[in-house]
Amino acid sequence: VGYVGPSADGKALDVVLEGLARLEYRGYDSAGVALVDGDAVATQKKAGKLANLRGALEEQPLPASGTGIGHTRWATHGGPTDANAHPHRGGTDGKLALIHNGIIENFHALKSELLEAGVEFTSETDTEVVAQLLAQAYDGDLTAAMREVVARLEGAFTLLAVHADQPDVVVGARRNSPLVVGLGEGENFLGSDVAAFIGYTRNAMELEQDQIVTITPEGATVINFDGTPAEGKAFEVTWDAAAAEKGGYDTFMEKEIHEQPQAVGDTLLGRTDEDGRLVLDELRISEEQLKNVDRITIVACGTAAYAGMVAKYAIEHWTRIPVEVALAHEFRYCDPIVSERTLVVSISQSGETMDTLMAVKHARELGALTVSVCNTHGSTIPRESDAVLYTHAGPEIAVASTKAFLAQITACYVLGLYLAQLRGGSYADDAAAVLKDLHEVPDKIAELLGSMDRVQEIARFMADTRSVLFLGRHVGYPIAMEGALKLKELAYIHAEGFAAGELKHGPIALIEPGQPVFIVVPGPDTPHGLHGKVVSNIQEIRARGARTLVIAQEGDTAVEPFADEIIRVPATSPMLAPLLTVVPLQVFALHLSTAKGLDVDQPRNLAKSVTVE
Ligand code: G6P
Repeated sequence: VGYVGPSADGKALDVVLEGLARLEYRGYDSAGVALVDGDAVATQKKAGKLANLRGALEEQPLPASGTGIGHTRWATHGGPTDANAHPHRGGTDGKLALIHNGIIENFHALKSELLEAGVEFTSETDTEVVAQLLAQAYDGDLTAAMREVVARLEGAFTLLAVHADQPDVVVGARRNSPLVVGLGEGENFLGSDVAAFIGYTRNAMELEQDQIVTITPEGATVINFDGTPAEGKAFEVTWDAAAAEKGGYDTFMEKEIHEQPQAVGDTLLGRTDEDGRLVLDELRISEEQLKNVDRITIVACGTAAYAGMVAKYAIEHWTRIPVEVALAHEFRYCDPIVSERTLVVSISQSGETMDTLMAVKHARELGALTVSVCNTHGSTIPRESDAVLYTHAGPEIAVASTKAFLAQITACYVLGLYLAQLRGGSYADDAAAVLKDLHEVPDKIAELLGSMDRVQEIARFMADTRSVLFLGRHVGYPIAMEGALKLKELAYIHAEGFAAGELKHGPIALIEPGQPVFIVVPGPDTPHGLHGKVVSNIQEIRARGARTLVIAQEGDTAVEPFADEIIRVPATSPMLAPLLTVVPLQVFALHLSTAKGLDVDQPRNLAKSVTVE
């Protein structure tokens, strides 16, 4: 976060801390601030969460100031210690401070050079190297110094710096790492995303790659790394500060789980005409180009990749176009088969996940058409793609993804059904019926959320459990894996998701008396007799002593004899079931984590937006 306003108001610390609180989900190993204070820069920084920094500031208050920067860290180079926390100082006169997101890949070479020149370092970070370079380059103009320094850096970075000799200025620079500008009246802001300044202004400005921005109380000036003038793209933030706050829930995650009906509904909104046909003019790819697509590759990480796996089943079924799902960080290195008829669909809540961004760039270099399914306006991945289909889940703050996952699946359904509609034929008729069912899903999720008491109880009883397995078939398979991921992320419990059919080929050896196993059961009318097969799988594990926790459609009586617990979900078409079956698994992980006394919104070691590869 960066801020400049009237020095007489002395607001910088409050604004920066408020912004950091909203951005803390991005990383929370340590936090720090730097404020311009007369002819020096005052800093305070602490390992651990923002609360530690606040505590330190109470013991040793910083002076009121109109200009400041602040940072929360997710450690890459150097452990999460006070010394490695940002801001880092450059030079020896105490006048310059700098914060950084990303990784400076050539920092060893630069550091050796500085060490030879006699520069002393106080941290193990790559960031301090940049701070020292900036101090050396500074000759009365922080923007010019920043230009000189970024020319020497390799890697991905967002940098913000202040210098006491220019007390009304914050300079920012970005390459492959997010930075947005907030435009206020007589005050201006910088942030890794708009949440940083949403309490103050909704007027924002996007920056391109390789640009430097200089903010003063009066305005913001943008130049390219080569020094040529540039203009940022203005946009208005459509959500407000309340949307980024807890709204009466104990945790963001609980709130976000309850926002899922709306996330799905809003993602469908405005995308059909009065005849119920999908209209996706926003895609900016011609119908001819889309009709020409003969192969789809989905690239994503984490929860988004599981949304992609659900999408594979649906899109292949509706369009008969082969769909492959690749973890974004593997895609580039597997020599992917891509042509100009390949549609590469990236899925990312943040739009900033570096692994996914690099996969998209690689796909474009290979000539593919690229579509981004993304939840964050103004983020990098949509900008680097040929087209974007936004999910409208609203801001997702909890690190573990919930409502964005449902919105991603919904957007992928929309994309698949649209492709089916363009291709026509019998699959298009099937698709039209599914679209009708899809519009009924938000109400069904709301109904389901109203009946989660038993799931909460089960989670509380299971607080001491050390291992949980999850089984599913077809679209239930990625949901089993997402259920396991939620439990790992939130409750630090060893959990695995398996394709139920694979069980007998190995994992069944894990089953011993009392082993809890969730089974995601497809609806009884799912084609190919899939329901019966899963019911058999439940019997196989129960016979070996497993405790079976069965997620089944309302009215499915076949599972009753073999279930220790039945969690009912409303009926829907087989392909849409994931939007419902995942909900009890999210609620389970949330309450198990709470029962263990863990931090649901900010689990250990994770970050919401992973902007390093
Ligand atoms: C991180 C988060 C996950 C998330 C993944 C992808 O690993 O901890 O919750 O699913 O990134 O994030 P994205 O923003 O690209 O959807």
